[in-house]
Amino acid sequence: MKKIQISPSILSADFSQLGNEIKRLEEGGADMIHVDVMDGHFVPNLTMGPPIIKALRQYTKLPFDVHLMISPVHKYIKDYADAGADIITIHPEATEDLKSSIQYIRGLNKKVGVSLNPETKTDLITNLLNEIDLVLIMSVNPGFGGQKFMPEVLNKIKELKEIKDQKNLKFDIEIDGGINFDNNKLAIEAGANILVSGTTVFKNNNGNIKKNIGLLKST
Ligand code: DX5
Ligand code: ZN
Repeated sequence: MKKIQISPSILSADFSQLGNEIKRLEEGGADMIHVDVMDGHFVPNLTMGPPIIKALRQYTKLPFDVHLMISPVHKYIKDYADAGADIITIHPEATEDLKSSIQYIRGLNKKVGVSLNPETKTDLITNLLNEIDLVLIMSVNPGFGGQKFMPEVLNKIKELKEIKDQKNLKFDIEIDGGINFDNNKLAIEAGANILVSGTTVFKNNNGNIKKNIGLLKST
């Protein structure tokens, strides 16, 4: 069983203090930093781009787990690689050729993730699972933090975990959206090994990040 990792989303951080917030996450035991990039086109929200990621790079050595909710995505991938992303996750709907975008990210020596929205079926990627490092299962419709967890996506995680075990593949299964202390164990039992969390990490227990990360990891 892979070690459970927590990738806190800075979407729920204090945007006026992002550098310090990233340091707090590292001190609190985060395994990586989930950076939600939104363009106001692929999703109805706008957050940050390469210049901010570049500015934040100096605050931690932790991997930047960059979730690109932008479309079109292919022509911008290198900007995020150059800005300091370690994992670059894209949505299939945002590229004309998913396989070539995957190979392009790989060619930039970055880990590649593919994100499935709640209504997107796994068969869109089953023939590419041997080429990707991470599948990001959305348990909310992308665009905002603090939304309600959609438990129906757990079946997709179970499906992917079965394929992963059957074919002895190595990709990580990451779940993203509405993760809290009531559903983290369900996600882990279903087969997720990386949990994204914004609201629960930053807001619960009076903002005690260390405690919240510890509780999310516990099974
Ligand atoms: C939503 C983002 C998620 C979100 C998670 O589009 O991809 O990463 O920020 O935030 P919470 O944990 O608050 O649902
Ligand atoms: Zn995300």
